Amino acid sequence: MIVAIDGPAASGKSTVARAIAGHLGMAYLDTGAMYRALAVEALSRGVALDDAETLSQMACECVIRFSHADGSGLPTHVAIDGMDVTAAIRTPVADKAVSPVSAVPGVRAAMVDQQRRISREQENTVLEGRDIGTVVFPHADLKIFLTASAEERARRRTLDMEARGADMTYDEVLTDLRRRDEYDSNRSASPLMKADDAIELDTTGMTIHDVVAYVEALVAERR
Ligand code: DC
Repeated sequence: MIVAIDGPAASGKSTVARAIAGHLGMAYLDTGAMYRALAVEALSRGVALDDAETLSQMACECVIRFSHADGSGLPTHVAIDGMDVTAAIRTPVADKAVSPVSAVPGVRAAMVDQQRRISREQENTVLEGRDIGTVVFPHADLKIFLTASAEERARRRTLDMEARGADMTYDEVLTDLRRRDEYDSNRSASPLMKADDAIELDTTGMTIHDVVAYVEALVAERR
């Protein structure tokens, strides 16, 4: 079974996808982490973020691997070409670099291939991203499109950043989210879009517990 969870930045996709995968014993694939890993690798190699050819070539050649260190079976670490980038992909620098990298069609094609291959190795997978229900798995068994107001998402992301020790104010986070929403929704290659058959859920004002329970009930219904 394939469960596709799409939505804008900080809409709760990771928390929900991870919780569902953990509760229901499914594999979990964070496709945003793959684009982030590639962006971090591009920065470390000094590749210009508008050099579509080199970025596409890197996307084809680099090996991205997830691993789990806590025994839960869910991925906790990500490495690109053997280099652990778990912390590096969550910095404000990576937040900025990932948009142009993920807008390159050649990069997307290589990532989508990898995402399909990784998912085929498992019986049941929850994938989260921007184009899972529209491009990666247009025939997914269940498609969820999570949204929340920009203010609510910025509030959640600021708490997240604080917990990780990053020094960003609410206003800075809000500005960055809006910039990323704009970029992800207006790029020509696979823009962020709700699939026609996706169930849209506005999580503003909902607790994470309620969102997870709602989506789990939908998974149980489709299984
Ligand atoms: O979900 P996230 O914020 O970690 O994603 C990081 C960036 O990667 C996001 O700005 C858009 C891009 N992305 C994408 O284009 N397609 C996906 N399937 C997942 C993420």
